[in-house]
Amino acid sequence: MVNVCCIGAGYVGGPSSAVIAYKCHDVNVTIVDLNQARIDAWNSDELPIYEPGLDEVVFARRGKNLFFSTNVDQAIIDADIIFVSVNTPTKKTGMGAGMAADLAYIETATRRIAQVATSSKIVIEKSTVPCRTAQSMRTILEANSSKNIRFDILSNPEFLAEGTAIKDLTNPDRVLIGCLQTPEGFAAQQKLVDIYTRWIPQERVITMNLWSSELSKLAANALLAQRISSINALSAICEATGADVDEVAYACGTDSRIGPKFLKASVGFGGSCFQKDILNLVYLSEQLFLPEVAAYWKSVVTMNEYQKMRFTHRIVRTLFNTVTHKRIALLGFAFKKDTGDTRESAAITLCSYLIQERANVAVYDPKVSAKQMKMDLTEPGVGTNEAEVEKHIQVCSSAYEACAGADALVICTEWDEFKMEHLDYKKIYESMHKPAFIFDGRLILDGPKLREIGFRVETIGKSV
Ligand code: NAD
Ligand code: UGA
Repeated sequence: MVNVCCIGAGYVGGPSSAVIAYKCHDVNVTIVDLNQARIDAWNSDELPIYEPGLDEVVFARRGKNLFFSTNVDQAIIDADIIFVSVNTPTKKTGMGAGMAADLAYIETATRRIAQVATSSKIVIEKSTVPCRTAQSMRTILEANSSKNIRFDILSNPEFLAEGTAIKDLTNPDRVLIGCLQTPEGFAAQQKLVDIYTRWIPQERVITMNLWSSELSKLAANALLAQRISSINALSAICEATGADVDEVAYACGTDSRIGPKFLKASVGFGGSCFQKDILNLVYLSEQLFLPEVAAYWKSVVTMNEYQKMRFTHRIVRTLFNTVTHKRIALLGFAFKKDTGDTRESAAITLCSYLIQERANVAVYDPKVSAKQMKMDLTEPGVGTNEAEVEKHIQVCSSAYEACAGADALVICTEWDEFKMEHLDYKKIYESMHKPAFIFDGRLILDGPKLREIGFRVETIGKSV
């Protein structure tokens, strides 16, 4: 039996390690975290994260070869292989604040491994980290461990997307494993290859050196986000010229060199990683005295901020330049469909702006709790305080409730249940103040049909 420990029971550690247990019944997987509430939830009927297919995987193996615990030390002692899957958020203070990744969690976990390990381990960087972090981990492990214990470090970045995590983990485009180019490094790499190839074809398990692997993760996210910012930049041109951004994306995407994916214009990308990882790359470039490279990647984030504000201003302008005391129904608060995750969601920027304009915002999201929304809107830096949020935000339990009596409806997240085949937009129209406006920030609605009903429609990337 191989013993695997995963430090960090979050969006990545939880699903990725649970899938190992699901696919390899002879591998013992223990996922540990310092957060007792999170571990309790992993051990309950209601898992701490919503992810299609995750319940099935966890419930099938929990208590058999899949365990969740706060006993970090014991799991380290027992493990042959340790995944470090802790958070690496953007630093809030100190050197590199607002750009560099905060590696404090990585360092604490690494020091813990060095301190308590009583046998040799393969330590795997699963978190997204700046290039050459493995070197720091290695130095810490080697300087703090007891004699006769060996640590081999691998980089195995995660490419899952939220909402499709189980699909991405069971059938990935590729798995990346980087190692030091030494006999010991190759041997450790092979052990991890042997686990993944139990369910993933060999040719999709890519091996390379540690630094390429670390940088490839940042590069992949930067390239994906860059496509979204590119199509969003084009959406502004479309709105001004009468071109249709969906048609432009289709025309470009049919070129096999460009490809059709990740060309959906939107209110702006969100999620915990795109912005953080690009800023990480910007910081790295600056540290390497490459200011032009830093400026190039920074523009991807700048364009995203511009897109969010452009959409928000369009709402206020269209509503006769004032939203004060108007009821705005906001459908969707998660950063994308099929997840309850709200980190960096465009909805937060939108809501906070509308609150500052003294609108009354009625929000509905099928998977985000009222508590989470209020927490997000009162975070430092968001621009709204508790009293304002209490006064101006009403959290609703259905789209119909949010829209009743509203002057405008704004689609923020592309949940399937907001599409025309699922919601009765005629009923919604009848319940709204007139003129009734719709702002489609996700291009999921049929503008001409809505106009037939009587709505005034504003869509990203299409002229009025
Ligand atoms: P998360 O915040 O959901 O989970 C991290 C967990 O680590 C938390 O529960 C925290 O309590 C725990 N933790 C921190 N320090 C610890 C320690 N010393 N000991 C034990 N537990 C500790 O974060 P996440 O979304 O799972 O992301 C983790 C990493 O994976 C990040 O580097 C992120 O960039 C990367 N990543 C995330 C995604 C995604 O979709 N969320 C996808 C690919 C990669
Ligand atoms: C993204 C990457 O897709 C994953 O490969 C990566 O592992 C992960 O980041 C990470 O490192 O955290 P995720 O953020 O979960 O995954 O979700 P995406 O599907 O990439 O969507 C990110 C944001 O971009 C969402 O707000 C989404 O609505 C938006 N988006 C996506 C668009 O606006 N247009 C598109 O065409 C695609």
